[in-house]
Formats: sequence, C-alpha cells, structure tokens
Amino acid sequence: MARLASRAVDARLAVLASGSGTNLQALLNDPKVGRWIALVVSDRERALALERARARGVRTEFLDPALYPDRAAYGQALLVLLQREAVEYVVLAGFMRVLGPEVVRAFEGRILNIHPSLLPAFPGRHAVPDALAWGAKVSGVTIHLVDEQVDHGPIVIQEAVPLVEEDDEGSLHARIRAVEHRQYPRAVRMLVEGRIKMEGRRVHVLGEFEEAR
Ligand code: GRF
Repeated sequence: MARLASRAVDARLAVLASGSGTNLQALLNDPKVGRWIALVVSDRERALALERARARGVRTEFLDPALYPDRAAYGQALLVLLQREAVEYVVLAGFMRVLGPEVVRAFEGRILNIHPSLLPAFPGRHAVPDALAWGAKVSGVTIHLVDEQVDHGPIVIQEAVPLVEEDDEGSLHARIRAVEHRQYPRAVRMLVEGRIKMEGRRVHVLGEFEEAR
C-alpha cells in the first residue's frame, strides 16, 4: 500500500528570516525540507540566517526595507521576487515584518508561521518575555497558516512548554526553540505533501499514522 508520507514531492519553498535563523537551520537539516528550500529572504543584510543559507548553497536575497516608501511597496517587491523564483510555499522563520495582503492573498493556504507561545495567548513580538511577566505556568509553540491578521491563522501544530521557577527569557526561549526545531520541519512536510485539510479554522492532518512509523 502506498504510504502518503513517503510520496516523492518536489516543491519550491522560500524561507523568510530576520535573525539568527536557528529554525531555518532545522529546516535545512531536514532531509526532505532541506531539498525544497529554493530561496532565503531577509530584511536584514547581516542576518545570520543568510549566512546559514549560503553555507548550504541556497540562494539568498536581502530585500532592503529602506529602498521602499511604504509597507505596500515592500510587499509588492517581495511578491515579485517570490513569483520570479517560482516559489510555491512561504515559510516564516523569525521574519520581523508583517506580511502584506498582496503576499498573503497570492499564497493563501501556503504560508506557515512559527510563534513562541500558545496562541492566542501572547501574540506579537515579545511572546517569551510576555509569558514570563504574566506569570504563566505553561507557554509553548504554535505553528499556523498565515492569514491577513497577525498571529491569527488556523493552527497546524501546538506544543506546550512548561515554565520553571528559575526561568529567564533566555532559558525559556531556548526550550521553546528546541521544540520549534523538532516541529517546524514536520509542519512544512505536512503542508507540502498536501496532508493539511481545512474545516473552517480547524486543521486536520492526514497521514499522521504513516509519518509516525
Ligand atoms: C522563533 O522563536 C520564532 O518562534 C519566532 O522568532 C524566533 C526566531 O528564531 N517567530 P530563529 O531566528 O529561528 O533562531
């Protein structure tokens, strides 16, 4: 019997990252996902993520926000770049800019984001310190499809990460990142292999059993 998870799929993915790129690294290290990454885009010229991509021979592009008058123009330039490179899926991995509606609409259902909390708790840029300051006992990781609202789209995977008494931002984010690195490649495979089915906001994942074996 054909197993869904072993079906050969070819795909062209762009990863968008602004920072250290540890999630990008986890995606590059995944035997399947790594082969699909056609392009890494950053809004920061010195992002370590760009170096990680170059080290693997992956095409990189620095899209400088200073060159565009507003967010719409930046979004349009990003869309042109993605289309020129025949990108089929967009994976946000610590990209610190809100994706404009032009990109979200063009890639509807084909954009993933990873967020360091259990959404809808602690959306925004400061999810890790916000969870600490709130006194949360549990936070975690959310991987979701991107819609036109920030940190809002349908949830594909969540995993809880308990806080401990001694936690500071660094220690908590390190444990969250460890979960992210394990889960993000899995979520990307689900999406590209066509195993994500939507029912309103609810995401059903087909073939989980085959994947686990
Ligand atoms: C991750 O914690 C991710 O959840 C958030 O930004 C961080 C990026 O980390 N969106 P890295 O650049 O992948 O190390």
